[in-house]
Amino acid sequence: MVGEIVYRAEGGIAQIKIDRPDKKNALTASMYAALTDAIRAAEAEPAVRVIVILGSEGAFTAGNDLQEFLQDPPTGLDRPVYRFMAALAGAEKVVVAGVSGLAVGIGTTLLLHCDLVVAGDTARFSLPFVTLGLVPEFASSLLLPQLIGRQLTGKHLLLAEPFDAGKALAYGVVSEVVAAAQVEAVTMEWAARIAAKAPRAVIETKRLLKPEPLQIARRIAAEAATFSAQLESKEGKEALGAFVEKRAPQFGA
Ligand code: COA
Repeated sequence: MVGEIVYRAEGGIAQIKIDRPDKKNALTASMYAALTDAIRAAEAEPAVRVIVILGSEGAFTAGNDLQEFLQDPPTGLDRPVYRFMAALAGAEKVVVAGVSGLAVGIGTTLLLHCDLVVAGDTARFSLPFVTLGLVPEFASSLLLPQLIGRQLTGKHLLLAEPFDAGKALAYGVVSEVVAAAQVEAVTMEWAARIAAKAPRAVIETKRLLKPEPLQIARRIAAEAATFSAQLESKEGKEALGAFVEKRAPQFGA
């Protein structure tokens, strides 16, 4: 696995850590491939009962690496990001995420596919796709309205307003808010509690709680087609280029 994804399995818990703090844990294709390998390894290891996903203090992840979006746009369901999200969304074992600091783009989206989320009180969530000339992904256009309704979703997907940990808790995007310094400890403690329970009952309960998989898969494919088209579009390239060049985008008429 690449150094920026750290995998450790111990005491029935597989811990997957995103560790690229100098770039706010922005995710590259090789990191998605390593995340996929990590989830598959955890799923395949009988001793592992629970999967934990953590970032660094101050940054869960700043989302997809925007430079890579420009240089090697992930268009196509066989790309590492899609394989990672398929592995996460399809995981049989319980996934608990611990979010400290920023969770941008896929950083917030992936939480909608986790079973429990612990957030630090300074965590900040955002889905800035329209700002970047992009559209929602991985069924967030379905799952977020199901949680909070279409009008509130509009604030975060059309206005691209970030939201704080308190709102994330009220929305049901996270399960609990704790002091930022306690995120990893609480996440690991929850994972240990679940790892000690009846394994088959846990897996079956997770399966029963999950949204309809076919509906999710259909939405992911529909979003992916539009996402890919936007990545290749003039406005998408302008928005992403503006971020990389640290300037305001010009969308014109
Ligand atoms: N892709 C690539 N690089 C990123 C990145 C991303 N998504 N997010 C942050 N970085 C890089 C910055 O370019 C910077 O690199 P540099 O030191 O070589 O210039 C470094 O990480 C630190 O980021 P910086 O912007 O200086 O930190 P900040 O605390 O001022 O702001 C963010 C943090 C996350 C708010 C800001 O970096 C940001 O808006 N990033 C883009 C988030 C985004 O839109 N993600 C994609 C969603 S689809």
